[in-house]
Amino acid sequence: MPTYYVMLGPPGAGKGTQAQIVAEKLGLPHISSGDIFRENIKNQTELGNLARGFMDKGNLVPDDVTIAMIRERLSRPDCTHGTILDGFPRTPTQADALAELLAEFGGEVNAVPYIKVPEDVLIERLTGRWTCRSCGAVYHMVFNPPNVNGVCDQCGSRDLYQREDDKEETVKNRIKVYYKKTMPLIEYYQSKGALVEIDGTKSIEQVTRDLLDVIVV
Ligand code: AP5
Repeated sequence: MPTYYVMLGPPGAGKGTQAQIVAEKLGLPHISSGDIFRENIKNQTELGNLARGFMDKGNLVPDDVTIAMIRERLSRPDCTHGTILDGFPRTPTQADALAELLAEFGGEVNAVPYIKVPEDVLIERLTGRWTCRSCGAVYHMVFNPPNVNGVCDQCGSRDLYQREDDKEETVKNRIKVYYKKTMPLIEYYQSKGALVEIDGTKSIEQVTRDLLDVIVV
């Protein structure tokens, strides 16, 4: 049976960082809705042009568009054994759609690690984040710098950039949107017995250990 994990938490909690590490360790694909949107923006697709207007302001892309995009991604052959989902679902409508979709594949959401981090730390993390344009690896100028300044450890690219939506004002709106639209998912997955709380203020390595302890049985 396929295994599906959903990383939940506010912007900057470390969902992407952990999803990437855990996906590699478990041999499952890491599916980040934000990364798929950013790839579409880079390639100037119709989806990218639509998503950009929402993302630049820190608002959510409409549910129908996001659900169709994830449906297509989850249908690909590399997802046969499951996936680590990062950034999706983000609303109760998306969570219901995901449950229906996974049922079609004979699976369900197995565990939802909810990474908890206080707001002041989130802002510090996001405003200091650098991302590799070439492979998507994520760094922080203080907490998680690359080995060589400005060079990606993973692929050697020198193209590290700061995300458009990591400006302080946009970050504040993203956090507001998270509280309003995504927080209900905590109760949603708690009621299904899938939620596991993780203290996201610890080091990246410790958070990974805590995560693996609770999701790998
Ligand atoms: P998305 O790309 O999903 O952004 P997000 O959820 O806001 O999350 P982030 O990527 O900002 O943070 P993260 O938790 O992954 O943290 P990270 O690991 O990078 O979405 C962007 C936009 O796309 C949305 O605003 C929306 O418009 C749209 N969108 C996406 N999905 C959607 C959906 N389902 N529905 C509708 N719209 C959608 O870490 C952050 C920083 O902290 C890094 O610098 C990292 O190095 C550092 N760090 C990580 N862990 C630690 C640690 N333990 N200690 C110290 N530093 C750490």
